[in-house]
Amino acid sequence: MSLLIKNGRVITAVDDYNGDVFIENETVTLIGKSLDVEADRVIDAKDKYVIPGGIDPHTHLDMPFGGTVSADDFETGTLAAAHGGTTTLIDFAIQTKGHSTLEALETWHKKAEGKTAIDYGFHMVITDLEDDRVPEMRKLADEGVTSYKLFMAYPGVLYVDDGTLFRAMRKAGEDGTVICMHAENGIVIDEIVKRTLAEGKTEPKWHALTRPTRMEAEGVYRSIAIAEVANVPVYIVHLSSADALEQVVLARDRGVHAFAETCPQYLFLDHSYYEQEGFEGAKYVMTPPLREKWNQDELWRGLRMGDLMSISTDHCPFCFKEQKEQGINDFSKIPNGGPGIENRMSLVFNGGVVGGRISLNRFVELTSTASSKMFGLFPKKGTVAVGSDADIVIFNPDRKETISVDNSVMHHMSVDYNAYEGFEVTGVAETVISRGKIIVENCEYAGRKGDGQFLKRGLYSG
Ligand code: URP
Ligand code: ZN
Ligand code: ZN
Repeated sequence: MSLLIKNGRVITAVDDYNGDVFIENETVTLIGKSLDVEADRVIDAKDKYVIPGGIDPHTHLDMPFGGTVSADDFETGTLAAAHGGTTTLIDFAIQTKGHSTLEALETWHKKAEGKTAIDYGFHMVITDLEDDRVPEMRKLADEGVTSYKLFMAYPGVLYVDDGTLFRAMRKAGEDGTVICMHAENGIVIDEIVKRTLAEGKTEPKWHALTRPTRMEAEGVYRSIAIAEVANVPVYIVHLSSADALEQVVLARDRGVHAFAETCPQYLFLDHSYYEQEGFEGAKYVMTPPLREKWNQDELWRGLRMGDLMSISTDHCPFCFKEQKEQGINDFSKIPNGGPGIENRMSLVFNGGVVGGRISLNRFVELTSTASSKMFGLFPKKGTVAVGSDADIVIFNPDRKETISVDNSVMHHMSVDYNAYEGFEVTGVAETVISRGKIIVENCEYAGRKGDGQFLKRGLYSG
């Protein structure tokens, strides 16, 4: 099977030119001007951008959390991702305390296998690490799981203490793998939550007001310091505030291998969303919470300057009805997380490129290339180049859409609201190709459940 994409503007993290891209089976085999080749299928990409498929390095599909399970599973979540122009995601397998991490990997393979529309990998969430389990980490790396997520938040659930952090970090560093950190002082936050509830403050906005940015900054500082001593690269996930970013900048200036991502919710939504009528604010109960709006300019500055290296979604959707409603009388019982897997590329293009905040190349880098490099997928993924997987998005930079749970072009996620309801965006992923196969054509799904494959990722290469 061969496919020729003609007349497009090919944009990678470093290139920008008009040309044709020729794909044979799953791989890009030729790129040039006015290619004279026979192809089974030709797509005219005139006036469109030809960009690498998006990579979302932080999603939670079919995740048991907060007394329920995230609303998108590997079928619906990856289908929604495909519609939004994402062709690779990295989700999280979660160790059950006291059990093997290899067992957790097996469980997550079963959740995903044969269901996904796009390729996927796993980070491993370590929830405890007795000395006799440490050697498992090497085995995980051999299985292509070359990164871990550790939580300083959620005591009693996913939280690990500093000793466990250090043990996991030491071994990860020795193995050439990477640590992803949920950096927040969960112990102090839990104390604030208890005191707040005792004062009768139960509405959704108190979720945000009990998680000060200083406690995020402290987690960032502490985790980077421990990682520095353990000699492992550390990647701070879902960084939400200027306070936290300052700690990343200080560490990077010292030459530490500290990296960070942010997410669209922290760039486009803010604390005022918690002030909505009734229980509406529960839609935005996520951790870290939405911050005061002024933080957004600082995050964009970090993205421009390279102190923030990527934009993930932290997609962890819960339906407003029944799931978020678990916490109608107590904000601490609202499952934490929000939807976004489908809207990332359009939001970042619109807010970043159309908004004049980042270049086109940087848009590609932030939504695709940087994650492929950080997480052992480059150059198979994250670029348009001869020899790379043909994961390509034909992106219409002029098409306008309104994001809404009711817009069948922009919402396929299995959740009963859209966090960006009413946002008007310019720039839409119209046709999406995953390993040479058209899976979305003119915004219509053309793929099949099970098209996606598990990705055995490589080690961190600096
Ligand atoms: O609120 C969030 N972010 N839920 C997902 C779990 C996590 O902390 O990433
Ligand atoms: Zn987290
Ligand atoms: Zn997350």
